[in-house]
Amino acid sequence: MNEPAPATPTRVVIDTDPGIDDAAAILLAVASPRIELVGLTTVAGNSPLSVTTPNALRLLELAGVPSVPVAAGADRPLVQPPPTDRSASVHGEDGLGGVLAFAPAARPVPRHAADFIADAALESTITLVAIAPLTNVALALALHPELEGRIDRLLVMGGARREGNMTPAAEFNIWADPEAAARVFGAGIPLTLLPLDITHQALLTEAELHRMAGSGKVGSALAEMVAFYEHRHLHDYGDSFAPLHDVLAVLPLVAESAITFEDAEISVDCGASVSRGATLVATGGRMASPNAVVGVELDREAFAETLLEHVASLG
Ligand code: RIB
Ligand code: CA
Repeated sequence: MNEPAPATPTRVVIDTDPGIDDAAAILLAVASPRIELVGLTTVAGNSPLSVTTPNALRLLELAGVPSVPVAAGADRPLVQPPPTDRSASVHGEDGLGGVLAFAPAARPVPRHAADFIADAALESTITLVAIAPLTNVALALALHPELEGRIDRLLVMGGARREGNMTPAAEFNIWADPEAAARVFGAGIPLTLLPLDITHQALLTEAELHRMAGSGKVGSALAEMVAFYEHRHLHDYGDSFAPLHDVLAVLPLVAESAITFEDAEISVDCGASVSRGATLVATGGRMASPNAVVGVELDREAFAETLLEHVASLG
């Protein structure tokens, strides 16, 4: 791995709903010497909270870092009912394609995710990576307004500038809790948004997946999950591709030049119409006041090589 370890790694908390693409993002973060993974916080999303929380524990055990804390959070969005159990989703019944069937040895810490995020940030500034519905992040900001000065960067996988993946207008993470997204996007925290328009490019070739499968225990498990995820996309949903969306919310912290960004003004439709959960992304002259940078271009080879190298380094 030709990645120089910086003097001081970035303190990172990842809010997640594992989730196979979450798994790839978490393993990348664990493997990078540029990241100090302070903890994972879990939320209902791809699967119910009762599934995403043990999955976070399993992934840390797989990666050989079972002592990294996991704090469970919201089991439903702020306002609308929980997303229907998507266990038949592209992530499978158990959220990880049935690959990590063991019971995790560790347990979640006795602290709500919103408070865990606040504890971490109030101890020393953090970078927050959100790769799930934003309910926990909104709760953290509502409970601890002083957080706004203690999160130096918020990277969100979410939204879509053109077509959504839950409705034609909305991407899943934002669709699942639009009110939470609006609260977070309006908080004034330096926001980096990775919408579907760029995460749809986060694809592995068959040869790359084969390389990952032969790169060790962790690579073999992740490759099996991704194979399940691809099969579900290709055969059950008719999708012609299976993007590892969430990896792009960690990638800028590991390989800065892999993604190109531009200033943007992001807002969310919290109405009750067919466009509920849509993200409106204004750039250039259409911005009134930028509140984010939005990923616009991905070096796909850099994405794939960075992911494969880091996963292989976990053994
Ligand atoms: O729309 C993609 C997002 O929804 C990803 O975070 C995926 O894990 C699901 O949560
Ligand atoms: Ca996710």
